[in-house]
Amino acid sequence: MSGTIAVIGTGNIGGTLGRAFAKAGHAVVFGSRHPATSGASGDTDAKVTTVAEAVVAADTVLLAIPAGDVETFLTDHAAALAGKLLIDATNRFPGPVLHSADLVARLAPTARYARAFNNQAWETFANPRWDGVPGNLFYTVDDAADAPAVEALISAVGLVPTFAGPNRPDLLDAALFLLAPSFATLGRRTGFRLVHD
Ligand SMILES: NC(=O)c1ccc[n+]([C@@H]2O[C@H](COP(=O)([O-])OP(=O)(O)OC[C@H]3O[C@@H](n4cnc5c(N)ncnc54)[C@H](OP(=O)(O)O)[C@@H]3O)[C@@H](O)[C@H]2O)c1
Repeated sequence: MSGTIAVIGTGNIGGTLGRAFAKAGHAVVFGSRHPATSGASGDTDAKVTTVAEAVVAADTVLLAIPAGDVETFLTDHAAALAGKLLIDATNRFPGPVLHSADLVARLAPTARYARAFNNQAWETFANPRWDGVPGNLFYTVDDAADAPAVEALISAVGLVPTFAGPNRPDLLDAALFLLAPSFATLGRRTGFRLVHD
């Protein structure tokens, strides 16, 4: 387990992932702009607090807000993010760069950056198996020591963690550029399944 996980953003991605983490036994605290009225925790024992309280309480922070709000989030919470694992699930459409690794390096330089959960649709995170077999999910971390924590969260959702190499948020963007066109023809619950020996 990776300590307390703050999930910032309680919409399609944050809500789906946070509840899945909680159901798998992780301690989850949602950070919401409307904690008193949020139903983010659903049928789990996840807590819902303000964004600031969630970040302070956490060892790991999953960022699942619109990319346009990331700069303000990092500016407002830089001190509280110091030394914490920050998993970036945001996508800065239309690109060409979708991730916020550079912003994190500039505004919260002592946070430990990881990227995951950006390149498949929330419908896949809610239902990650096809014919009973789970799909793969690519992730990257800056520091290899953070890989087990990210892998535990991907496994908690029911997908197979697949390392894209260290410090490769660009490849996580590329995975989405590769997959997203299929959503229109194959449906949003389209994912990757790697075959190998
Ligand atoms: N949808 C997908 O399938 C998918 C897949 C992979 C990655 N993503 C990425 O994940 C992120 C979230 O997407 P989504 O589909 O979950 O969006 P969404 O359903 O619109 O949810 C966005 C959430 O972010 C919160 N929020 C917005 N600005 C905030 C701020 N400044 N501080 C704190 N919370 C804030 C919103 O809270 P309020 O209720 O207060 O507005 C809402 O809970 C985006 O960057 C998106 O590109 C989405």
